[in-house]
Amino acid sequence: LKTPRRLFLRAKSSSTTTMANDEVIGGSLKQQLAKLFEESLRVTVPEDNNAMGLWSKVKGKSTQFRGPQPIGQAIMKNLPASEMVDSCSIAGPGFVNVVLSRQWIAKSIQKMLVDGIETWAPKLPVKRAVVDFSSPNIAKEMHVGHLRSTIIGDTLARMLEYSNVEVLRRNHVGDWGTQFGMLIEFLFEKFPSGEVVSDQAIGDLETFYKASKQRFDSDPAFKERAQRAVVSLQAGEEKYRKAWAHICEISRKGYQKVYQRLGVHLEEKGESFYNPYIPGALELLSKKGLIEESEGARVIFIEGKNIPLIVVKKDGGYNYASTDLAALWYRLNEEKAEWIIYVTDVGQREHFEMFFTAAKRAGWLPAEDNKYPKASHVGFGLVLGEDGKRFRTRSTETVKLVDLLDEAKSKCKAALIERGKAKDWTEEELEKTAEAVGYGAVKYADLKNNRTTNYTFSFDQMLNDKGNTAVYLLYAHARICSIIRKSGKDIEELKKTGTLDLVHPDERMLGLHLLQFAEIVEEACTNLLPNVLCEYLYNLSEDFTRFYTNCQVVGSAEETSRLLLCEATAVVMRKCFHLLGITPVYKI
Ligand code: ARG
Repeated sequence: LKTPRRLFLRAKSSSTTTMANDEVIGGSLKQQLAKLFEESLRVTVPEDNNAMGLWSKVKGKSTQFRGPQPIGQAIMKNLPASEMVDSCSIAGPGFVNVVLSRQWIAKSIQKMLVDGIETWAPKLPVKRAVVDFSSPNIAKEMHVGHLRSTIIGDTLARMLEYSNVEVLRRNHVGDWGTQFGMLIEFLFEKFPSGEVVSDQAIGDLETFYKASKQRFDSDPAFKERAQRAVVSLQAGEEKYRKAWAHICEISRKGYQKVYQRLGVHLEEKGESFYNPYIPGALELLSKKGLIEESEGARVIFIEGKNIPLIVVKKDGGYNYASTDLAALWYRLNEEKAEWIIYVTDVGQREHFEMFFTAAKRAGWLPAEDNKYPKASHVGFGLVLGEDGKRFRTRSTETVKLVDLLDEAKSKCKAALIERGKAKDWTEEELEKTAEAVGYGAVKYADLKNNRTTNYTFSFDQMLNDKGNTAVYLLYAHARICSIIRKSGKDIEELKKTGTLDLVHPDERMLGLHLLQFAEIVEEACTNLLPNVLCEYLYNLSEDFTRFYTNCQVVGSAEETSRLLLCEATAVVMRKCFHLLGITPVYKI
């Protein structure tokens, strides 16, 4: 049973096209239809109750069916009566066209309005997931790549949470490793008295990092002290642990500012957290015969890869890979996560492929990719500037994220003032709206692209109020709210007492699109592609515009029903915004 989205909604808004020989795709509307068809198949070919294998099994063997057409006919004939389906017909080589019942579509939407959009949450085959995202490196700058990871990871977490999956939102910060020897030693050098220095004294951590790196590279004596400091830190010496914790804390405050603005919640479990678990994890891999000696290091050879995965360096130290193996073990065994999702740039694909393969060979993960527990790498492309090169500002090498968000907000505020909003809005309203639209624009511009492609950061594009932007969508939602407000009707009351009916073709089209929400979220979750949801949202607003252009709402004979359709659209749009981490606005 196959219901391609385009065909289903766009080309044939009134019917769904199915063919007997395709696999069942989940999703709420699809799933309900699939059930009907399975029932029909049970009757049509009694010895086979599996819709998926039907065609290949019948092909070439059956004298009863010659080609998919007669199968389609029989399936149609045996389709159980259902309030969902209005009528059926056969088209082409064996497509079963289903016309959904107008009453059923309307009833389903109205039920959602009464019971809440949570009832439309898709069902996913996992209970608990880890989403490992954002994950900047302490003392190094949090660059636009980390912004992408933060935005994409947050949306994935939100979609899974909506689908009733318990999500452990993990910030796998780089808070461990040899760079800390250098940082600590530099801290001791600058503040020899040993007292805990204030954050202001250290100033900008990035500058601090660069200065210490310079010292490290130019002075062999300093370098040696720094290397000894790493040993002291890893041995747990109090003075060193304290200095380390202090540096981490300053960094953390910086990230927190970004997260707070973006409304992103994360729980930090940095690399240091997994350090004690590394020996045990490596021991398990060793027992499976996976770890070998190679040029003084301990490595795992992966078939098809030229270089092995190093898990213990020549000097006996652990690295990024050993930490990730220990973290995976911890997430699977201690946290009992069934799906572990890592959001980083595509440049790290190889790293993930290699340690996932190692985990499969160790039996930690099943060999098949469609089975759980599962580990997935969500890779994303680069952020480019309008010159087509890696995104950076004129003055500095990289972009300060907080500055970027500030700029988006202030540009939005200026646009609102230009539209004359300063006259009748309070300062707070202006601020809040500018924030919602500005931050929303930055997020949406990122999310609407297929994440694997590079995307060009452009304020002009993302803040345009026409086209596929958050600004346009937020305004569209605010307009729907204002239609409802201006009708003067109590929408809560209408939900209970009014009746929704979808008479006009554009009403029906909009209704069908609304009904597809669950399967879109399911698809976006399953394939870890937020752009699928963005596309749905944009199409929804287009369907609404078509409906609103062709159907009078306020003052028409169908006012009640149409107001309910407006409300349902607003509810679904708001849920989309929520899943994308965008704050809706109600007034514009
Ligand atoms: N700190 C890393 C970086 O900035 C990302 C960490 C991703 N998570 C992981 N478990 N490897 O590139």
